[in-house]
Order: sequence, then structure tokens, then C-alpha cells
Amino acid sequence: MPRELATATCRVCEGTVHEFLDLGRQPLSDAFREPDSDAAEFFFRLAVGRCESCAMVQLTESVPREKMFHEDYPYHSSGSSVMREHFAGVARRFLETELTGPDPFIVEMGCNDGVMLGTIHQAGVRHLGFEPSGRVAELARAGGVRVRTAFFEDSTASEVRAAEGPAQVIYAANTMCHIPYPDSIFRGVDALLAPDGVFVFEDPYLGDLVTKTSFDQIYDEHFFVFSAQSVQAMAQHYGFELVDVERLPVHGGEIRYTLARAGKREPSAAVADLLAEEDARGLSEMETLRGFAASVLRVRDDLVDLLERLRKDGCSVVAYGATAKSATVTNFCDIGPELLSYVCDSTPAKQHRMTPGKHIPVVPPTAFRDPYPDYALLFAWNHAEEIMANEQEFRRSGGRWISYVPNVRVL
Ligand code: SAM
Ligand code: TMP
Ligand code: ZN
Repeated sequence: MPRELATATCRVCEGTVHEFLDLGRQPLSDAFREPDSDAAEFFFRLAVGRCESCAMVQLTESVPREKMFHEDYPYHSSGSSVMREHFAGVARRFLETELTGPDPFIVEMGCNDGVMLGTIHQAGVRHLGFEPSGRVAELARAGGVRVRTAFFEDSTASEVRAAEGPAQVIYAANTMCHIPYPDSIFRGVDALLAPDGVFVFEDPYLGDLVTKTSFDQIYDEHFFVFSAQSVQAMAQHYGFELVDVERLPVHGGEIRYTLARAGKREPSAAVADLLAEEDARGLSEMETLRGFAASVLRVRDDLVDLLERLRKDGCSVVAYGATAKSATVTNFCDIGPELLSYVCDSTPAKQHRMTPGKHIPVVPPTAFRDPYPDYALLFAWNHAEEIMANEQEFRRSGGRWISYVPNVRVL
């Protein structure tokens, strides 16, 4: 008998969340471990469900935020040239549209190393980043960005409103989906946002997760998986309105949502179009999500089969990109150093450590070239173009990439 899947309470509307996928016992996805550490690792149950009232897809168990976002948080947003260009474009767009009035003010939650606000700073526009992870906040500061080392929430946002006045733009990239306390966030946005300001956030899209079976987008930090339908319901719940949506090619497929106070801006045609598209494909239906869960099990079995076969054939197999996403893959599929000799990654804070849970060594890209392995599993599949362009010599040497998104195959 399959285990009865659990329920939880929706973090937006308090409706009942029904689980549709259980990814089992998982570590913190960004807790890269010192090789000589004997500290106990933190584990939690990673499972995802859908709210029967507002259709929001969300984890059914959350990890305390201080365990994830702290001094040692290793993710550097500026590690990809494609993402640097993406965020420079975001900043330029705000400078040309929302930030043209007298003394405009923009606030970002999760500014990380200043990848977006750096361009705002160079333009001389008033700004503030909220970044609770101390070391990356320091990098932003070194680039001239104004940062408050704190979580954005009701109280901190209200303090900024009192001290610095209203913001024309509040922006968050790959951060709103990390936050299982939207009530506090929306109270903070309500306090800080100018009457006709916009709250803009971009995060991985449920539509792409389902189309690509990219189950590795589900991990401790990714508490919500948004769709136009669920974001519209969330906006309404907190007195806001979804007024624009834009599909983005980054991170495997995202949507940028623009919210305004209810009744303040005319929603664009793109909102109605995307809602209709989601409705037509039954994106948020439980049946669709259960189908996604079945595809995840197929990908797991195919990936383990391929890696075991290659290892048996005596091939050298490694992985590329010690992504947070890969913690879900390695721990759910039970893939350790016996199947992947190492993971190479360009982030200094991850190198010479071990991956969470499965303890695969993380090495710098120089080790990948010395000598090239036979196969490399592309964990950073969302950066495929950039990585393959940088590593052309790997293929010339006879090496082959392995992908598991949307299905397992040798490229
Ligand atoms: N915006 C960057 C990007 O898109 O590359 C960074 C994204 S990173 C995945 C998420 C960031 O959000 C982390 O740097 C984390 O410390 C920060 N964060 C988490 N909760 C937050 C909160 N309540 N307020 C502000 N930042 C937060
Ligand atoms: P992300 O998918 O969460 O952005 O993480 C990408 C990881 O891949 C991050 O640890 C940096 C690493 N990376 C490389 O090692 N080489 C590269 O060329 C790029 C773009 C990323
Ligand atoms: Zn709900």
C-alpha cells in the first residue's frame, strides 16, 4: 500500500495543502561541508503539495531561515556572466521606467552580492538592499551598494519607510519563492511601497517545472513554486493586484510578476493570456501535478541506471556545477562519490568542501581539465550555454555531457 500523502496548512490562505511528491530526507541544499567536519548534518523531509483553495504549490515542511541564510551562505549571484547581463538589464529597465521621477528610491530584497543594485548605484539612484547573508552582503557593499544585513519583513520594511520615505520599486529575484512568511512580506511591502509603486519579483515557473520535469528546482530554499494563477490569488489575498507577467529564459524558465496596489494599474493583456494558457493546460490541477511526480520517478530511475552502467563500464564520470538544485538530485536518487567522483564549481566558497548529504568532493574547474573525464553530468543545466561555451575543449577531448532535464540523455 502506498503511504497516504500528508497535508499541511497553506502559508498564504490557510487552506489545506495536499502533498503530491515526497522527495524524502534531505540536507540543507547550500550546506557545503568541510572534509574534516564531524558535526551532525541537519536533515528535513522535502515534500511538495498544492493548496486546494488558492492552488499555491509549496513545501509541506519549512526549514528555519537562519539555518539557510547566514554568514556562510555560499551562493554568489555574479558567478554567471549571463546572469550579470540579465540583472544589468533589469536595472536599466527600472531606471528608464519606474525611477524617472524626482529622487526615486528602489529597495531590493535578497540583493546578494549586488548584481542588480550595482548598476543602480552607478546611475546615482537612491537604493537599499536587504541581504541577511553577511558575506555576500559585504561583497555588495564593496561594490558601493547600500545594504542592510537583515531579512526584509514587516518590521524592517517599516523602519526603512519611517527613515527614508516610500519606495517606487520593491524588487526581488529568486527570493520571494524562498520566503514561507508572505504575510509579513506583504505587510512590509504595504508599509514601504509608494501609493502608485510596483512590487516586482521573478522566480522559477511551475509551468517550466512541469514541462521539463525539473524536480531539482524543489529544495529547502525554494519554498513556493509560483504560477500566474497562484500569484494572482496571493496578490488579491494581501490587497494587491497582478498587473503584468513576463516570461524569462533564465534559471530554466522563470516569470517576472509585477504587482501594484489593487485598482492602481490596468493589468496588461499578458496576465489574461498566461492565466488562460495555464487554465487550458490544467497546470495547477492535482492530476497534472501527480503526472509530474510520476515523471520524476522515471527520471530518477533512468539517471541511476545510466550512471551505474557507465561506472560498470569503467568510465570516469563527474558532475559540473555544485548547485543547490543538485542536493535534491543526489539525495533523492542516492548518488554519492561512488557514482560521481567529484563536482566541479567556480564558486570559491564551495570548493574543497563536500556536497550536503552525499559528501561528493567539490573541486575547482581547473581539476576538471586535468585530465578531462569521459562523462560530465550537468547539474548547472540552467547555465548550459555558458558552461559548454567555456568548456569546449572537453567535447574536443572526446568527453560527453549528460543531462537529466527534461529527460536523461547523453548529449
Ligand atoms: N537576487 C539574487 C539572484 O537572483 O541571484 C540572489 C538570490 S539567492 C538564491 C536568495 C537570497 O535571498 C539570498 O542571498 C538570501 O540571503 C536572501 N534572503 C532570504 N530571505 C530573505 C529576506 N526575507 N529578505 C531579504 N533577503 C532574503
Ligand atoms: P545556480 O544554478 O543556482 O545559479 O548555481 C550555479 C552553480 O554553478 C554555482 O555554484 C556556480 C556554478 N557555475 C560554474 O561552476 N561555472 C559556470 O560557468 C557557471 C555559470 C556556474
Ligand atoms: Zn492557499
